[in-house]
Amino acid sequence: MRILMVCLGNICRSPLAEGILRKKAEEHALELFIDSAGTSNFHIGENPDKRTIKNALKNGVDVSMLVARQFKAKDFEEFDIIYTMDHSNYSNVIALAKNDAHINKVRMILNELHPNKNMPVPDPYFGGEEGFQHVFELLDKACEKIIEKIKHNSLI
Ligand code: 4NP
Repeated sequence: MRILMVCLGNICRSPLAEGILRKKAEEHALELFIDSAGTSNFHIGENPDKRTIKNALKNGVDVSMLVARQFKAKDFEEFDIIYTMDHSNYSNVIALAKNDAHINKVRMILNELHPNKNMPVPDPYFGGEEGFQHVFELLDKACEKIIEKIKHNSLI
C-alpha cells in the first residue's frame, strides 16, 4: 500500500504524519510506501520546521531527514491513498484530479477517527508548542487507526 500525506507547506503537519506512520508501520512489520508533500511551493527542498522536528523527537519520532516537495498530478498514479490535513489542502489536491479514480483516493485524515465529519488538522505554523503537541496527538491517533485498518484489511 502506498500512502501520501499532504498539507500546505510540507514542513509541519504532513512530514509529521509521514514520520508517525512510518514508525508505526515498522513496529507492526508492515511494508508500506509512505511519503508526504505540500500543495504550495513555499518550502520545497527544506527540512521540516525546527519546531516540528523538536516536538516529534520529544514524542519519539525523528523527521529531521525529510525534505519538502510539492504535490504533483502524477502522485495520483503513484499512491493508493492521499490523506489531506484540512479543507484547503483537500480542494487544492482535488483540483488536480483527472478522473473519479483520482478523486476517490483523496481523504481528510481525521475522517479515520471521526468518519464523515471532515475535521481539519489545525495548522500549527503561526502558533506555539501547544499547537504542535495537539497536532502530534491528533496525527498519532489517526495513524494508529490507519495501521489497525490495514491490519484488518479494511482501509480501502
Ligand atoms: P504545514 O504548515 O502546511 O503544516 O506544513 C505550514 C507551513 C508553512 C506555511 C503555512 C503552513 N507558510 O505559510 O509558509
